[in-house]
Amino acid sequence: MNISHSSELRSLFLKFFESKGHAVIPGASVIPENDPTVLFTTAGMHPLVPYLLGAKHPMGTRLTDVQKCIRTGDIDEVGDASHCTFFEMLGNWSLGDYFKKEAISWSWEFLTSPEWLGIDKDRLAFSVFAGDDDCPRDEEAAGYWLECGVKKENIFYLPKKNNWWGPAGMTGPCGPDTEMFIITDKEPCGPDCSPACDCGRYLEIWNDVFMQYDKQADGTFQPLKQKNVDTGMGLERTIGVLTGAKSVYETDLFSDILAKICEISGKQYGEDEETTRSMRIVADHMRTATIIIGDDRGVTPSNVDQGYVLRRLIRRSVRHGMQLGMPEGFTGEIAKVIINQYKDVYPELVRHEAFILEQLGLEEQRFQRTLKQGMREFEKVTDAMQGRSTVISGRSAFKLYDTYGFPIEITVELAREKGFTVDEEGFQERFREHQKLSQAGSEQRFKGGLADNSEETAKLHSATHLLHAALRKVLGHEAEVAQKGSNITAERLRFDFSFPRKVNPDELKEVERLVNEAIAASAEIICEEMTVEEAKEQGAIGLFESKYGERVKVYTMGEFSKEICGGPHAANTGDLKSFKIQKEESSSAGVRRIKAVIGK
Ligand code: ALA
Repeated sequence: MNISHSSELRSLFLKFFESKGHAVIPGASVIPENDPTVLFTTAGMHPLVPYLLGAKHPMGTRLTDVQKCIRTGDIDEVGDASHCTFFEMLGNWSLGDYFKKEAISWSWEFLTSPEWLGIDKDRLAFSVFAGDDDCPRDEEAAGYWLECGVKKENIFYLPKKNNWWGPAGMTGPCGPDTEMFIITDKEPCGPDCSPACDCGRYLEIWNDVFMQYDKQADGTFQPLKQKNVDTGMGLERTIGVLTGAKSVYETDLFSDILAKICEISGKQYGEDEETTRSMRIVADHMRTATIIIGDDRGVTPSNVDQGYVLRRLIRRSVRHGMQLGMPEGFTGEIAKVIINQYKDVYPELVRHEAFILEQLGLEEQRFQRTLKQGMREFEKVTDAMQGRSTVISGRSAFKLYDTYGFPIEITVELAREKGFTVDEEGFQERFREHQKLSQAGSEQRFKGGLADNSEETAKLHSATHLLHAALRKVLGHEAEVAQKGSNITAERLRFDFSFPRKVNPDELKEVERLVNEAIAASAEIICEEMTVEEAKEQGAIGLFESKYGERVKVYTMGEFSKEICGGPHAANTGDLKSFKIQKEESSSAGVRRIKAVIGK
């Protein structure tokens, strides 16, 4: 096949795996539900963790999808040819169904068959796990590649660092993988050149993970009840390779966005290095920000958690936009192009268009208001240091943050451009003094496993359903109460919902009383599978659009609550013992937030 457009690659991938008996399921939200351990969905497997651990998926044991993913770990690298903070991952899964043999032969067929991608066999290289004390050398996977006709010299055995997939240092499903690379025109960097080096000769496009272990908190690897396959092909990279683009920014995924940036700024992409870098940063960050705000569980800019990442993305875009000479209000213009580009794949962006434009506009305004003053302050600080020091003090960096809204990363970046550094530790010290509470929250976040499926989480998750139902009963006559977000840590639940005003103390008491009544009723929590239509008919609540497959799980708690949800849950409402609301506050415009705990 001659592929020139990303939409063809998306549909070919799904079609291929459909032809191999896989059910096409809709991708999930980029904001993980009930998972305190990550801020964003970072891989296609993430929303499937309960099923990889053994829960039955309503669509069967062979699944395929396209998943919106966000990885901001390399945010500072964005601007080069390959880094993006948002990408789409094409994936296929076996939930205890097929394993290495089928996974490998299908990957090979999809990559090389002229009916599918038709990539030249000699341009492909493969890596397999080299083996260690935890898991043997993967001769089996290598053997299947050889059977496909891969030359021995194009198979590389690499250690855990390269060929193991699972949450680094954390708990959860994991295992050895086999990665697939395009061999580029770059000459080998030396005799040991391999996919493990960064020289650019090998470009990874796909990864098949053989999930057979569940990493325990003590660092040991327990065999999983079922052997799974989890694969991920990066859409951006692969379409880049297939079309011979010099970078992901030269693919159709960025052409309209960059054209708009050129139009607004009056500059040319590629006219000089700095312009190219700034344009890529604006394009990437605006795409990610639009996806985050426009998600069905979209968040708004703030100083904590996902909201802070979003704030950084928007503010960095605004700064680079300003460097490109773009006038105020440009973020909305670019977002419109992005929404239009993804309207068929991610229709939620269209549904939330007004919200996206409003939030971007507000954040841009907030930052623009102080940006010029902040830049003057920055110049003042660095001018005063001329010849004496090259380290910006923590105090100055904190003032830029606190008074002028400069995320520390912007100060660091500005400093770097001038050949200066920042005393980041000094900044953090001051920051901590001011933010003791939210700091405690974010440390907690990284303690757990990839998805903490502990009993406590399940109970808090069930309590969330009861709370949601009670809020509808108490407040529903006045305005629609719809879930806007949910987050659970080992200690508490947090539930965001649409409601136009503060919930008063009497109402909160009544909500608490209703939930405690449902707990005291000791109702069995029943899970049933049905179609979305049946669920709607039965009056189940939950997000119906875009997130769910045709068959869904519906959890019923007595007469009290019926909600579409992936689980897991407690067995009986009585397990929750008691329920107490700790706090009710505003989360963003028109959205309230409740934090609550249950009995231990
Ligand atoms: N989960 C695997 C990855 O993200 C497929 O690479």
